Amino acid sequence: MNVYDDSRAAVRDALRLSRAMTFKAACADLPLGGGKGVIMLGPTDGPLAEERRRAVLRDFGDAVDILAGRYLTAEDVGTSMQDMTVIAESTRHVTGRPVERGGSGDPSLWTALGVESALRVACERAFGSQSLEGRSVSVVGLGHVGGDLARRLAAGGARLVVSDVDERKRALADALGATWAEPAQALVAEVDVLAPCALGGILHHDSVGALRCRAICGAANNQLASDDIADVLEARGILWVPDFVANAGGIINIQVELEPEGYSPDRADARVRAIGDTTRTVLAQAEATGTNPLAAAMELARQRLAEAGVGAAA
Ligand SMILES: NC(=O)c1ccc[n+]([C@@H]2O[C@H](COP(=O)([O-])OP(=O)(O)OC[C@H]3O[C@@H](n4cnc5c(N)ncnc54)[C@H](O)[C@@H]3O)[C@@H](O)[C@H]2O)c1
Repeated sequence: MNVYDDSRAAVRDALRLSRAMTFKAACADLPLGGGKGVIMLGPTDGPLAEERRRAVLRDFGDAVDILAGRYLTAEDVGTSMQDMTVIAESTRHVTGRPVERGGSGDPSLWTALGVESALRVACERAFGSQSLEGRSVSVVGLGHVGGDLARRLAAGGARLVVSDVDERKRALADALGATWAEPAQALVAEVDVLAPCALGGILHHDSVGALRCRAICGAANNQLASDDIADVLEARGILWVPDFVANAGGIINIQVELEPEGYSPDRADARVRAIGDTTRTVLAQAEATGTNPLAAAMELARQRLAEAGVGAAA
């Protein structure tokens, strides 16, 4: 659920995000395709009052239900686990509901675990060790995923710069002993790793020249404004872990929820941590073939789609 200037912008975003979901599911080797739903708020709507929000979510549930299971919805930017419960009043094709309601709970914590696993492998390649002890990381966006990632990194011994447009997140910075910075400063902080965990499009021709990190690994979807930015990062010697590889933890957890044996947090934990192995494969393949990590990850996804008999996404 997000604010868009007009419906064309919302449709464009849904298409970009669903394309990324295709690559995400394929790289994670999940038997799922790619889909995304967008609930558009107009620029003047402001936050929705409770009753209106319920009505909007139920309408969205009706739209999901029409697709009869070909699309499963889940929590993401601007929505919560409670919202999934409201959507479930209109459709059963909703995942990530609270555990007490038969779901697997908030997917963000799993996404954060997967990003941590990928980030450690990025450190292994860039600095020769997975250890976070003394590593500096700048986390941009302290929401559901970024907040939990920051906690995990701090627990692992990392020194953190953190940032959010929402000043209330300063409390978490204080609790973690992290340095608070404005978003524009956090993006160009001199750190080992930059972890973009807010919205997409943060890496573009104007921003990448100013980066002072050695590696980038975060949760935000669609971090690159365009695919050619992967080459620019490569040329600058900045190791970028493709977002759709690093942030697959939520959907991997959802797949565990869909399995006939029923949901198991232990199975989810092992599968989500395997994002580290996928990251290692992608980064090694990029190096071996002289391409960038984006090209290597897309090639892995295309191979998996071809094996599944599905046409490769453009
Ligand atoms: N939730 C998941 O499981 C999941 C899974 C895969 C990918 N993602 C992606 O990860 C990102 C974060 O997801 P989330 O669920 O934590 O969302 P969220 O809405 O909980 O958090 C986003 C945070 O970023 C902050 N923010 C917004 N614009 C900012 C800016 N310009 N600079 C700094 N901070 C800014 C917001 O105030 C908020 O605290 C999104 O791009 C999302 O698509 C999330």
